[in-house]
Amino acid sequence: MKTKLFALILAVVGLFSACTPKVQEDRHGNYVIKNNTIVFDEPQRQEGQKSVLQFAVDPIENVRIGFIGLGMRGPDAVDRMTYIDGVTVVALCDIEPDRVEAVQTNILEAKGLPRAAAYTGRDAWRELCERDDIDLVYIATNWQTHVMMATYAMQCGKHVAVEVPAATSIEECWQLVDVAEQTQRHCMMLENCCYDFFELTALNMAQQGLLGELIHGEGAYIHNLEPYWHDYYENWRLEFNQSHSGDVYPTHGLGPLCQAFNIHRGDRMKTLVSMGTPSYKGKEVAKEMMGVDEFANGDMTTTMIQTEKGKTLLIEHDVYTYRPYNRLYQLTGTTGFANKYPSEGFTVLEENLPEGFLSDVLAEGQHLNPHGFVPAAVRDKILKEYLHPIAVEIEEKAKEVGGHGGMDFVMDYRLIYCLHNGLPLDQDVYDAAEWSCLGELTAASIANGGMPVAIPDFTRGDWNKVQGYRHAVK
Ligand SMILES: NC(=O)c1ccc[n+]([C@@H]2O[C@H](COP(=O)([O-])OP(=O)(O)OC[C@H]3O[C@@H](n4cnc5c(N)ncnc54)[C@H](O)[C@@H]3O)[C@@H](O)[C@H]2O)c1
Repeated sequence: MKTKLFALILAVVGLFSACTPKVQEDRHGNYVIKNNTIVFDEPQRQEGQKSVLQFAVDPIENVRIGFIGLGMRGPDAVDRMTYIDGVTVVALCDIEPDRVEAVQTNILEAKGLPRAAAYTGRDAWRELCERDDIDLVYIATNWQTHVMMATYAMQCGKHVAVEVPAATSIEECWQLVDVAEQTQRHCMMLENCCYDFFELTALNMAQQGLLGELIHGEGAYIHNLEPYWHDYYENWRLEFNQSHSGDVYPTHGLGPLCQAFNIHRGDRMKTLVSMGTPSYKGKEVAKEMMGVDEFANGDMTTTMIQTEKGKTLLIEHDVYTYRPYNRLYQLTGTTGFANKYPSEGFTVLEENLPEGFLSDVLAEGQHLNPHGFVPAAVRDKILKEYLHPIAVEIEEKAKEVGGHGGMDFVMDYRLIYCLHNGLPLDQDVYDAAEWSCLGELTAASIANGGMPVAIPDFTRGDWNKVQGYRHAVK
């Protein structure tokens, strides 16, 4: 009797397991394919390492900065910082001595400021990081060196501001997060497009509810780099693109969207799928400049992202073809729409605007068309009245100092403002990792025929602790 019962149980268990679908796991280096989704390995948080969500340090009255990388981008950053009170340029570093000297002469001396300590050669950046009179290391070197420099600077006790993208692989993204958590230092990626006046205005409109519930966003980096390919130091950019498929420069389009969609402040990017065209123009340039016949980076890369709450983001990358510069920047909400390229415009509902808002910009009897853009006068009034509060006091000076129309100055100003006042920075290390990780994730999706990829949660479960993206103010 007992044997029969045992046999019956075995049969039932056997039947049940035969009906349960087996989870197929297929390992490819640092990811597995599980249920038709690519899942990258996620390292555990080590003992003694703690979250830097909403991280702030004591106010730093005078922010002493060391700059590494004085190519096309770096010198302008030095220049912008000289317009901000409570900042000292302590040290300058580049491989090439003449680039350091040019900044000393043309920027510091020309403004009557003291010369900074000079570091030249390929490894001198380490000595700069080791100085004990620097608070912030500002990195504007090629992508391949960002993480090595940023992590060493944090390990030397410095806060870090690093150019875009902060990291070039998933492993590097985790390194940035882990070292920021271990050292309890700031690590901000310098995503300047978050400070473009249009993006800031649209963000403010979204935060004030004028666009309703945001459901879809679009962003891009479409910029033909033909005039610049020869200017990157030792050809680092074309070399990187030659060996990497995917969206290798995603942050200008993605960063401002992530702020509007409250990414890791109540929602998170959960899955992406990406497709790339073959390389035509990129291959041509590489043939001419590098003498190679292969080029991994497709001329056009298109990525769709879905968030935990089901919202969608479209991100594009094309640095090769003949098209007008375009970052798209579109927000679609349930009651409104904002669009930056090719022409700035909004669709909003009259009833959502403050009382009397339209009285001086619409003729009597005229109404807003919910199926079209608002008229130019209404748009201009929106751009003025809804300019984000963080930009209001600094707008005029930012436009005077410049840097992509002023947004670069607003970014540097905000970085220093937050450090002066002991506030969390506008972009934390999780933003840096989330926005930069698209490079390797999109390449993996493309390599697997557009397969979905699970986007790592760099906050390790904390993405829902803060509700809503906000710039800190004192
Ligand atoms: N946010 C933006 O709008 C924007 C615009 C342009 C560039 N960038 C970013 O800025 C960074 C630099 O770009 P770029 O156009 O100035 O490139 P670049 O090639 O003109 O300059 C890079 C500089 O880094 C220096 N460098 C490299 N390795 C170094 C080392 N080991 N020690 C010291 N110096 C070193 C080089 O000598 C060179 O002067 C990149 O990350 C790029 O993506 C951002």
